[in-house]
Amino acid sequence: MQDIVMELKHINKFFGDHQVIHDVSFQVKKGDFVTLLGPSGCGKTTILRMIAGFYEPDSGEIHLAGRQIERVPPYARNTAMVFQEYALFPHMNVYENVSYGLRVRRRSAEVIREKVGEALALMQLTGLEDRYPNQMSGGQQQRVAVARALVMEPDVLLLDEPLSNLDAKLRETVRVELRNIQQQMGLTTIYVTHDQQEALSMSDAVIIMKDGYLHQQGEPHDIYFEPRTPFVADFIGTTNLIQVEGKNALWVNYGEDVLELDATCPEGRYTVSIRPEAIRLSENVISRGEGNCLRGTITHSMFLGEKMRYFLRDKLGHEWLGDIHDPGRKVYTGEVSMMFRSERTHLVLEEAM
Ligand SMILES: Nc1ncnc2c1ncn2[C@@H]1O[C@H](COP(=O)(O)OP(=O)(O)O)[C@@H](O)[C@H]1O
Ligand SMILES: [Mg+2]
Repeated sequence: MQDIVMELKHINKFFGDHQVIHDVSFQVKKGDFVTLLGPSGCGKTTILRMIAGFYEPDSGEIHLAGRQIERVPPYARNTAMVFQEYALFPHMNVYENVSYGLRVRRRSAEVIREKVGEALALMQLTGLEDRYPNQMSGGQQQRVAVARALVMEPDVLLLDEPLSNLDAKLRETVRVELRNIQQQMGLTTIYVTHDQQEALSMSDAVIIMKDGYLHQQGEPHDIYFEPRTPFVADFIGTTNLIQVEGKNALWVNYGEDVLELDATCPEGRYTVSIRPEAIRLSENVISRGEGNCLRGTITHSMFLGEKMRYFLRDKLGHEWLGDIHDPGRKVYTGEVSMMFRSERTHLVLEEAM
């Protein structure tokens, strides 16, 4: 069992009379890499700033390493934050930037030399100690900002979209390095991004937010395969969402068809999510296959190399996406059967917030 090192309890935050965080609670295990994911404006930066101490919540508690800290000033919390716009000191060279926090804490020259040396080596900055920020690329400046946070050995490292200013290729390299270093050091990290691929590929746990509400927290697989709200289903990856009529059974009515689900659907209107990659197509009319089958008409198709993406319309006029991987030269047209297994016919139990 991993220990819980950080916990937010019922956090609410207003700016003026505008509430931007609504009753957010979550726990972070020691050594985990946790990603806060959501569209721009959903409150990610506000949450990081409350953990770091730059904003105070209006109500709720923040616990870190056994202390309740929501009213503790930033310098008295053992957190370190890397801002989206690196915020290096322009008049200081790399060594001075990275050693700054330790100098403020009056650590000995020897300790500073050792810790800065380690952090620079980890971030592959050795040899650049004398450079000034304006003499470095965006990627290098970003590494300096991370090194400056690492030397503080914080109880939690807070990273606010630290890769968003890098080009796609560099982003991927730094992403892998960052995750390796974080794991080597066993450093508890909260990482903010609006990039779902980044969140799925780097994290031990993902927290999905929208409009200041926490929609779901879970391991990447759970978030992808078992989204709890229609927003999560649609925000992570691509999906088909359909409205169904529940009868307190493992199946639902969809128009004249019956669909078997991965869970019991209570009485009432619910949403079901079916991923495009879960769909198979057949030109045959299939009465009873294994799992679910609906008839549809292909309205459009796109060859994407590793897959064919089909746009379909079912009998109720609802639009679907179906992805056929490794398609070779096969192209379906006209009316087809869409098949998908019941365990990939996911019942979304909660409505949007
Ligand atoms: N200092 C501030 N004063 C007033 N409103 C703010 C302030 N900071 C953020 N907001 C508002 O709070 C909401 C959440 O912002 P933010 O936490 O920056 O979102 P994100 O980081 O997810 O893009 C937005 O509506 C934003 O306009
Ligand atoms: Mg932000």
